[in-house]
Amino acid sequence: MKTYFITTYGCQLNVHESEKLAGVLQKRGFLPADKLEDADIIVFNTCAIREGAEDRVFGNVGALKKLKKEHKEKIIAVCGCMTQQKAKAEKLYQVFPFIDIIFGTSNLHKFEEFLDKKTKRLLAYDEDFNLEGENMPFYRTSGENAWVNIMQGCNNFCTYCIVPYVRGRERSRPHEDILKEVKEAVNSGYKLITLLGQNVNSYGKDCGEISFAELLTKVASIDGDFKIAFMTSHPKDLTSEVIDVVANNKKLLKEIHLPVQSGSNSVLERMNRKYTVEKYLSIIEEIKTKIPDVRITTDIIVGFPGETEEDFEKTCSLIRKVKYDGIFAFMFSVREGTVAEKMNDQVPFEIKNRRVNKILELEKEIKKDKLNGNN
Ligand code: 5AD
Ligand code: SF4
Repeated sequence: MKTYFITTYGCQLNVHESEKLAGVLQKRGFLPADKLEDADIIVFNTCAIREGAEDRVFGNVGALKKLKKEHKEKIIAVCGCMTQQKAKAEKLYQVFPFIDIIFGTSNLHKFEEFLDKKTKRLLAYDEDFNLEGENMPFYRTSGENAWVNIMQGCNNFCTYCIVPYVRGRERSRPHEDILKEVKEAVNSGYKLITLLGQNVNSYGKDCGEISFAELLTKVASIDGDFKIAFMTSHPKDLTSEVIDVVANNKKLLKEIHLPVQSGSNSVLERMNRKYTVEKYLSIIEEIKTKIPDVRITTDIIVGFPGETEEDFEKTCSLIRKVKYDGIFAFMFSVREGTVAEKMNDQVPFEIKNRRVNKILELEKEIKKDKLNGNN
């Protein structure tokens, strides 16, 4: 029996897209291998959000040179967000001549076609973003949780972020397709349905579909014993209607991931986040009032260009106010082609490192306080 091994980097969207790659391979009779070395087809589904993720891909793909030399029949494929950047795809193609297939997110749906390729090596690159990937078969791998895509892409162009470049503009799936997929997942026994999108609160706006709050209500009205989660929300688009559905509908998990990125208005402005700290805190207030038992989590970037000690202190003060239940803190990483790449006053690594550690300490303090009953 032929086997495959997929290594996935990055976010839940990539995890779900690896389920689609697995779906294609299973359809063709391949089975999952226990170890990468044993597999006939080896796939790396890459991430581009920070430099570290890309460095790991170079390291891990590079390490396959010997294996491929000894087993020329094995197929090595590299895909995902990193290879949706033309220069990165070309570099991988040149540096590692043993990679057989390279393609980006816009060509995910062509994976099966690429497997049948007649050429010796293949580098597929275009920016023809669409929703074709939604028609792929998938092989779910996340236990009781079923990921369900509701939309692709992002229109926000936060100045630090590569996502709009590697995922294209927002494209919402028809709600009927989403409901059908959720029904199938629930009927197959999945207990948690996680609706996925870079900016779920923009659902429908690109094509006149129903709103995200209406979509949540429709998903929740599907019969069965299951819960609903969603990610990710942009604070500028989170509506009172969505908060109300989370508050009032038993099927919705009482959880909201609301990335703030910074607690300083001047940093937020340079990030192009389109909200102020005051506006963000008013949304948090509304969430906490309407959903008393809510879990709120966030993403924070430290060391954005020009972030001063005072800006960082403002972020710490916001964290103390919100008392998050979980924080994902990242050191700013320069991404090629973004606006922030060209900004002056890049913050040195040592300072970013100290700031990220300070946030981890704050997170621990908050957790301890909550365990001691101080809300
Ligand atoms: N550097 C560091 N962190 C980043 N993120 C996005 N782009 C960058 C970058 N260039 C973080 C943001 C986002 C999360 C998914 O990754 O916090 O919410
Ligand atoms: Fe990136 Fe901003 Fe879009 Fe999120 S909303 S994916 S941080 S550009």
